[in-house]
Parts: sequence; C-alpha cells; structure tokens
Amino acid sequence: NKEVMEEIIFHQGDIRDEKFLKKVFLKSLNNGYQIDGVIHFAGLKSVEESIKKPLIYWENNVLGTLNLLKILNLKKCKAFIFSSSATVYGTKNKSPISEDSNTKPINPYGETNLTIEKILESFYKSEETSISISNLRYFNPIGAHNSFRIGENPRGIPNNLFPYLCKVASGQINELKIFGNDWSTRDGTCIRDYIHVMDLADGHIKALDHLMTNDSQLINLNIGTGQGYSVLDLIKTFENINNVKVPFIFSDRRKGDVCKLVANNQRAKKILNWYPKRSIEDMCRDG
Ligand code: UD1
Repeated sequence: NKEVMEEIIFHQGDIRDEKFLKKVFLKSLNNGYQIDGVIHFAGLKSVEESIKKPLIYWENNVLGTLNLLKILNLKKCKAFIFSSSATVYGTKNKSPISEDSNTKPINPYGETNLTIEKILESFYKSEETSISISNLRYFNPIGAHNSFRIGENPRGIPNNLFPYLCKVASGQINELKIFGNDWSTRDGTCIRDYIHVMDLADGHIKALDHLMTNDSQLINLNIGTGQGYSVLDLIKTFENINNVKVPFIFSDRRKGDVCKLVANNQRAKKILNWYPKRSIEDMCRDG
C-alpha cells in the first residue's frame, strides 16, 4: 500500500512501559490515524533464559501484553495478532500436531505464551470489545529476507539450531553439537518443521487481512509447513546449497527436547488461503 509505505512511523520503547504505549496510540490518533490492527511480536523467546530468569519472562511477556491490551482502544481496534509458539503444545502430542491438541508447556517461556493465549481468550469474550484475535503458533522459523538485509544474527552463542549452524558455517564457532543421535527417527536426530521467515511474514499479512474483513473471532493457527526435516537433513541441505562445510559432533540429548515436532497446518491453509511457498533449500540459502 503506497500510502502506508510513504509514512511508516517508528517509535522505540518498552512494552512494560504503559505510558509509552499510551503515547503511541494517542499520537497516532492525533495524527488522524486510528490503529486498526496490532501485531504483537514484543516477546522474549529463549527457553534457556526463561528457566534462568523466569521473572523477566513473566514481566515482559505477560505484563507487557496486559499493558498493550489495556491501551488498545477497546471497541475500535479490530484485529490483534499474537506471536505464539508450538512450544505451547509441550512434549506429549504426536506429530502432526493440530491446534486442538493438548497444551502443556514444559518451560517458563512456553507457560508465558499459553497464559497470554488464555488472557486473550477472556479479553475476546468480554463485552468491552469486538476485537478479532489470532494466536499464530510458530513452528521453527529460519532463513532471512532475500535482500539479505534482515536476518537472524543473535549476540553471543545462539541457542537455536539454525543461527548456530550459520555461525559454524562462517567459521565463528568451530563445530555444531547435535543433541542426540539415538532418537527414533530415520537418522537418529530430531525432526522439526522449519519454515521460511518470509512465509511466516506472509502468514501474518494473510491473518491480518482475514481478521479485518470477517466477523469477530478468535483463532489459533499453526504456522508451519507440515514437513519434517532432521537435524542432519538440515545440515546436509545447508552444505550442498551453500557449498560450505559444517563440522559437527554428536553430543547428549538436550533436556526438554522432543523427538519430532511437525505442524498440521490445514487450518491456516483453509482459513487464510495461505500456503508456505519456500523450500528447505530456500531457507538454507537465504539464511
Ligand atoms: C526451541 C524451543 C521452543 C521455541 C523455539 C523458538 C527448546 C527446547 N525449544 O525449539 O520452545 O519456541 O526454539 O525458536 O529450546 N539442536 C542441536 N544443536 C544445537 C541446537 C539445536 O542439535 O546446537 C537440535 C535440537 O535438539 C532440536 C533442533 O535442533 O532437535 C531444533 O532446535 P531449536 O532450533 O533450538 O528449536 P526447538 O528446540 O524446536
């Protein structure tokens, strides 16, 4: 949308700061723009850190979301999208996992996500609002924008596989540790549903369009490709497509890991008319 592209207004602040959030909404109104839709990405997302520093996770993720919801001009904001995670399902479900599967997170990060989903549900049901809400439950987003100007480059040692792999491939870290080769999978390594970040981005746009143009609703949607790849599959694909070596060793299983986590993504396909288009090769090349 040309009009939007000409004027993207950026405010930097902290979601825990109610005053700041209020200012953003007020300034927008004063400039003649009603905020119709909100996409909430302002969460902390490291499992390991959430175990070490749970209070920061509860404060930032849950309190921050409450701040945001309190300030949304209740009747007027039409759509709210929350970046949730497949981590809300816990470890007991059998893949492919549908949105109706049991939710039972096993770490504070996952607990905060599920708590937020519950808060959103009661907010949605309240009489104060006629908002539409979608919880997008991400599987394993990887890759980068294909301009290569926006991508994942965490400070310090990454926790997640893909940024770690990228740092090994570029020589910043010597070798990748694969957490276990004794899982009951084809090659003994864990299987995940990797999704290109740009397909994930498309999912948000489709979800926003859907919420803005339909009756008030609350929907949970899995955002994954529905295809599983093992850690070794990912390494081999990365090596082939980028013509680099990724040295690895096998080490012990990581606590809290699941053997296989793959989405049933039928609901997102049907409701949003959204189809992930990028292959595992695209993810590895762009990353
Ligand atoms: C992790 C989180 C999940 C969160 C997601 C955010 C855990 C247990 N789960 O998902 O809650 O929503 O990140 O992006 O942390 N692996 C290695 N070596 C590594 C790193 C990972 O072998 O150095 C393996 C893991 O065992 C796993 C796979 O790679 O099988 C993917 O791991 P990761 O990228 O951390 O994602 P998840 O564990 O699926």
